[in-house]
Amino acid sequence: MVKRKACVFISGQGSNLKNLISHSREKNFPINICLVISSKKNAHGVSYAKKFNIPYVIVDANDKNHTNKILYFLRKYKISFICLAGYMKIVSKRIINIYHKSIINIHPSLLPKFKGLNTFSRVLEKNEKKTGCTVHYVNNKLDDGKIIIKKSFNLIKSDNQDSLKLKTQKLEYRAYPEAIIKIFRNR
Ligand code: GRF
Repeated sequence: MVKRKACVFISGQGSNLKNLISHSREKNFPINICLVISSKKNAHGVSYAKKFNIPYVIVDANDKNHTNKILYFLRKYKISFICLAGYMKIVSKRIINIYHKSIINIHPSLLPKFKGLNTFSRVLEKNEKKTGCTVHYVNNKLDDGKIIIKKSFNLIKSDNQDSLKLKTQKLEYRAYPEAIIKIFRNR
């Protein structure tokens, strides 16, 4: 199997990046992570790129030339698939159009509910019975593209923001690789 060359965009912890790197080392996983782009110099996730010898670049999204810079590196490493994993910046329309159907994101709620930030506190405020995570294609609207996979769990009385984050991330580590396998199984 020829694996697609993928890039993961991050801004923070990078636990999904770490999880995707370990999956991408499996023989039958459809993508190989060949590049990491971080919007922040000090993002902890960059340490995983270093540890696993994956090329990485820091592209400050406030830089007015950032789209060109990102596209330069995506071309240089022949990237044909993009995974956003905790990337806190808006991806430009140009990149989304070029990577149409080949750029995906993971979001910590059951979309279309709770788009945007601070999902866990809003889930608690609304007394939701269930929450979870969603992997979806990226389009030009925030957390809006076609859904690939959702995974959910039931809330319990003692849940707080920390417990919801832990439970949601545990599901994310299953959902993201499964979504990628699903995409390429159907192509
Ligand atoms: C994840 O919860 C993801 O759903 C959201 O940002 C978080 C990133 O976590 N988009 P990490 O950086 O992968 O640890």
